[in-house]
Amino acid sequence: MNTLERPKRAPVPRATDTTLSRDYYISQEIFEREIEKVFFKQWTFAGHVSQIPNVGDYFLHTFAGESLIIVRESAETVRAHFNVCRHRGSQLTKAGSGNVKLFVCPYHQWSYELNGGLRRAPMMPDGGCIDYDKLALNPAAAEVWAGMIFVNLSPNPEQTLIQALGEPPAGLLKLEPENVKEICRDQLLVRGNWKTLLENYLECYHCAGSHPELGVAFDIQSSYDQTATWGGACFLGGEPVRKGLVTVSMTGDLVSKPLGRHAEDATLQLEVAEGLGLLPVLTRVLFHVDHAIIHVMNPLSVGEVQWTTIWYVRKDAVEGVDYETDRVVEVWRATNSEDKELCERNYQGVLSRVFVPGPLNPRAEGAVRPVLDHYLQMME
Ligand code: FES
Ligand code: FE
Repeated sequence: MNTLERPKRAPVPRATDTTLSRDYYISQEIFEREIEKVFFKQWTFAGHVSQIPNVGDYFLHTFAGESLIIVRESAETVRAHFNVCRHRGSQLTKAGSGNVKLFVCPYHQWSYELNGGLRRAPMMPDGGCIDYDKLALNPAAAEVWAGMIFVNLSPNPEQTLIQALGEPPAGLLKLEPENVKEICRDQLLVRGNWKTLLENYLECYHCAGSHPELGVAFDIQSSYDQTATWGGACFLGGEPVRKGLVTVSMTGDLVSKPLGRHAEDATLQLEVAEGLGLLPVLTRVLFHVDHAIIHVMNPLSVGEVQWTTIWYVRKDAVEGVDYETDRVVEVWRATNSEDKELCERNYQGVLSRVFVPGPLNPRAEGAVRPVLDHYLQMME
């Protein structure tokens, strides 16, 4: 089956649905299988084009224990290479970002072009002892979609990102997602299995009781119906903002200059944030009228997952004049910290030998099982 197929119909939650058996959250063997069957197969968010505007600009990106170099090869092309020298495996760079003409390995100075090709292997004897064509850096797939860079650890994914997601929708393009800049990045270590965090994100059953800040901004009741359409490997769609609010903030007022063409728009309201999701290892993108947030999940081990949230505003916005970072990040920083605690407490219970999963709420947790079913298909 094509793992990046979009769901053809809304999944139908059943009253008998549950999460997975305990093994799926605690077994090292299953985690090893996930690396091969899931983490090396799916598209995830790596960064934004604003991080690498010039040819030779690069940044390092870590996912599922792998270090990738994301580099701008030309105005049109962004590439991803495994940060592993083809001589004896040294990492080529440890610097988080920079600009290079060539990547030169610090160990024995083999050098590589921006496209990953081996340029020079000093002092290696001539006469065909090494085949330069076979010693390019290992590639991962990289694609830019609406200014966002996505990677797939497989060099030949079953579907390109554009085949899977289609063209960016007009509502998103109106916000000019390529013309934003990062203003803040929070990285939380959550002591739980990555699927515990996934399940938490997929349901808002817990929101009313645990997320006072999120409840100010999002229409939690409508979000049940929104998430009910989540199922396959990826989807386009945002989340409902509360009626009457202009954006997602603690007051509902703008927290930065409107994005893109909304700057001249008299009607700023956007009732559903524009966005997309990639599953099952979650990337969630949400563009509001004045700022954007991207959540990215990075499984570190069977019992630890990194949860990164990045906030963006339009690129010409000035801190202190057009926005205060503390106000932009307020809702999700609070929500993330609440979710970290909920997930860690949940995982402690799952670790108990008496744990067996109970029934899911068909409406408020309706997205959980369809996404887990998709995960199970990938694991076959
Ligand atoms: Fe990179 Fe030797 S390990 S040149
Ligand atoms: Fe939550």
